[in-house]
Amino acid sequence: MQLGVCYYPEQWPRSMWADDAKRMVELGITHVRIAEFAWSRMEPRAGEFVWEWLDEAVAVLAAAGLKLVLGTPTASPPKWLVDAHPDVLPVRADGTRWNFGSRRHYDISSDTYRRECVRIVSAMAARYGRHPSIVAWQTDNELGCHDTVPSYSAAALARFHRWLHLRYGTVGALNDAWGNVFWSMEYPSFDAIGLPNLTPTDANPIHLLEFRRFMSDEVASFHCEQIDVLRQHAPDADLLHNFMGFFTTFDHYRFAEGDALDVAAWDSYPIARTESIALPDEQKARYARTAHPDVSAFDHDRYRAIGRGRFWVMEQQAGPVNWAPWNPVPAKGMVRLWAYEAFAHGAELVSYFRWRQCPYAQEQMHSGLNLPNDELSPGGLEVQQAAREIAASPALSALGAAERAAVAVVFDYETQWMFEIQRHGRSFDYQTLAFDYYESLRELGLDVDIVPRNADLSAYRLVVVPSVAVMDDALVDQIERSTAQWVFGPRSGSKTNLFAIPSTLPPGALQRVLPIQVLEVETLRPTLAPALSIGDTDGVALHWREHVRANGETRIEAQFDDAWPAILSHGNVRYVAGWLSHALHREVLAQAARQAGIATQRLPDGVRIRRRGELTFAFNFGPELAQAPAPAHADFVLGHAQLNTGDVCAWRTVGD
Ligand code: GAL
Repeated sequence: MQLGVCYYPEQWPRSMWADDAKRMVELGITHVRIAEFAWSRMEPRAGEFVWEWLDEAVAVLAAAGLKLVLGTPTASPPKWLVDAHPDVLPVRADGTRWNFGSRRHYDISSDTYRRECVRIVSAMAARYGRHPSIVAWQTDNELGCHDTVPSYSAAALARFHRWLHLRYGTVGALNDAWGNVFWSMEYPSFDAIGLPNLTPTDANPIHLLEFRRFMSDEVASFHCEQIDVLRQHAPDADLLHNFMGFFTTFDHYRFAEGDALDVAAWDSYPIARTESIALPDEQKARYARTAHPDVSAFDHDRYRAIGRGRFWVMEQQAGPVNWAPWNPVPAKGMVRLWAYEAFAHGAELVSYFRWRQCPYAQEQMHSGLNLPNDELSPGGLEVQQAAREIAASPALSALGAAERAAVAVVFDYETQWMFEIQRHGRSFDYQTLAFDYYESLRELGLDVDIVPRNADLSAYRLVVVPSVAVMDDALVDQIERSTAQWVFGPRSGSKTNLFAIPSTLPPGALQRVLPIQVLEVETLRPTLAPALSIGDTDGVALHWREHVRANGETRIEAQFDDAWPAILSHGNVRYVAGWLSHALHREVLAQAARQAGIATQRLPDGVRIRRRGELTFAFNFGPELAQAPAPAHADFVLGHAQLNTGDVCAWRTVGD
């Protein structure tokens, strides 16, 4: 359990650096990330490198005993570069270019920009790659942020043509595969294909999907060009990227394939994220100062899979931020709680954004561990408390690794893209559905692994697939070999890999283990809400519902009030034929868990638990005093069972 901080030496006079470093160490910080936006200071004019300030910053921080994470500065190309090569500016869907004057103003497909990036990263890595205190490197910063991917540039189009050519071989094959006979969309050559923007009405969904797949590969290859340089010069450092929460623009599992990453790091802003995602307003209100209890956990569990077991929080919210629709001050205790929460989910390091609030420029309303006058902020004081607690407790400082959970939730990026391309109803959002299932499992006191659809799922006892647009045979093979309980949500198997309806009707290949056919689907305006009950729980379908025919020995476990099946099952596979109101999802999953032999409990509202190593942690995100579900004579290593808002406790798990 190590703590870190993000620091920008270039934003402060040199006379402050040594004292900052000393105070970081006193606070209990071990890692500091620097440099990721400092290109204009590293290379003020083309080819003219100025390293001496960075040499000194690295030396000062290292001398204090801090370990460094160096960021490559490619998220903020300097003005001279943009002036020399205006075509590096990204192009928006409406065909206009973004301007210089903030950050991320580059086209990820620009060959010129990619060359410039390899050049600056090579120079930086050659200079600092073997520095003993630089333990990790971060590429760029939050790839894809600020809607700069996709870019609809001429460079992107040229690379898209090459990508399509490799994939389809001939344009005739592409025309057939895409169904371009529809609306006379047939192309005479690859070069004739455009980007799927600026069309009067919908572009062909497979055109849109292939463009998203291509752009996802572009993000990964952009990162890998830097990784190749860094591996060469910094062979002993951990290489990482700092991803974002709830962010699906590219396929993070594919991004992390091979040796593209040693650690998945991500940036956790729980309150701002709670404000910006599609949650019911009463939830946003209830958790305005604590963040929704699952909003960070969802991404901790996702990034643990992306990092194949290794993940860091590279930026952790330390107080109010500046970028959400509203930016309240966190409830007392939350900054400390979020650190323990990340550790409980398996994080190796929690690094705060940022050391000191910067009194000028875009982020002056964004807090840090210090106020602009250098006093520790309320968040800074909580970090101090956590650091002291961890240092004083052998049980906390030598925490074992996060173990495999009994429950897996399959999350699939392509499914997100396909249902964004074809929502069918304005309120259908796959990630929100996946989150609803995840939340249900967490309310039942379960630890969850989030995994890709091609993961080895054989060790799980319950596998939940909120939806997966394309049902491939490999996944069905896994079900056939499995004794786990499987739950599939609506729209599963509803498309082929070429974005068409399967010839046997949805759920396509899943029919091998679950003989059902989806005959018709409907999206539901808020006034249409087919009702149903499962056990003692009543509710409705929201957003989406299907008319399903049960074939063979398929059982109908629950029906809507108009007699269409709601839950169907065959052997150990269940299908949920709609987006159900939350309590119904929880009930379906509780039943499946019981059948899988997994003990569940109903946690108090706003309370969550998570096991790591020999400890169980409990957190209270709710506004009321709550009781942690600890056994009567629990051996607490942190706090106690009475949890005020923002409190955390941990006890030794004995066989529960
Ligand atoms: C992150 C970004 C940081 C900073 C922070 C503010 O998205 O990586 O550079 O802008 O947000 O919350």
